[in-house]
Amino acid sequence: MTSTLSEKRRRRQRRRIIAYAAVTVAWAASIWIGTLLAPPEWLHTLALFGHLVGLVIGLGAALAIEWHALLWATGWSSVRELRQVDQTMILPVWAGLAVLLATGALLQPHLDSPATAVKLGAVLVVALNGVALTRWTGDLARIPPNARFQALPRGIRVRFVVSAVVSQIAWWTAVFIGMLNSTT
Ligand code: HEM
Repeated sequence: MTSTLSEKRRRRQRRRIIAYAAVTVAWAASIWIGTLLAPPEWLHTLALFGHLVGLVIGLGAALAIEWHALLWATGWSSVRELRQVDQTMILPVWAGLAVLLATGALLQPHLDSPATAVKLGAVLVVALNGVALTRWTGDLARIPPNARFQALPRGIRVRFVVSAVVSQIAWWTAVFIGMLNSTT
């Protein structure tokens, strides 16, 4: 039984390592392709629209999950609700991020601009933190449906809050710098 559990844990850990590598490769590919392409005006406009669609879907879904996490942490809802929202909204989060990476490659990012470098760093943080959060959401599945947040060990609570805060800061950094870059 114990060996089955630790085997499962090891398998989840291996999957996470592959996911960390996959999101890093996708991020680097988006930037690299962005340096090669010079799309015509109409394609740039279309990509910008797609970029905003990806933003609405990805950030919207991430906000829905983190809003429910906040409700659970403050005692306004149960971990069961958070689990349901996480299971249904995690796909749009990753789909939105994939669209942002794909369309960003068509927007000719100015890599020599420090603001763009910070923005792309924030995008990588969003993606890596998203993978890290799957460890936490995997743990949620083993918590009793009515468990209170305050009853969890302190270390787990701190990890949970830090991941959520990092996620929001990274998303909003990318949004603000994106807006700034497109208006200056
Ligand atoms: C979490 C991921 C991302 C978010 C939240 C994000 C957000 C944004 C936002 C809000 C804008 C302003 C759009 C407008 O109203 O004009 C923007 C523009 C832009 N983004 Fe992103 N972005 C992300 C990923 C990327 C990536 C991966 C790249 C490049 C590889 C990229 C390159 C650009 C460029 C070049 C612009 C300026 C486009 C222009 O005005 O011509 N973005 N981004």
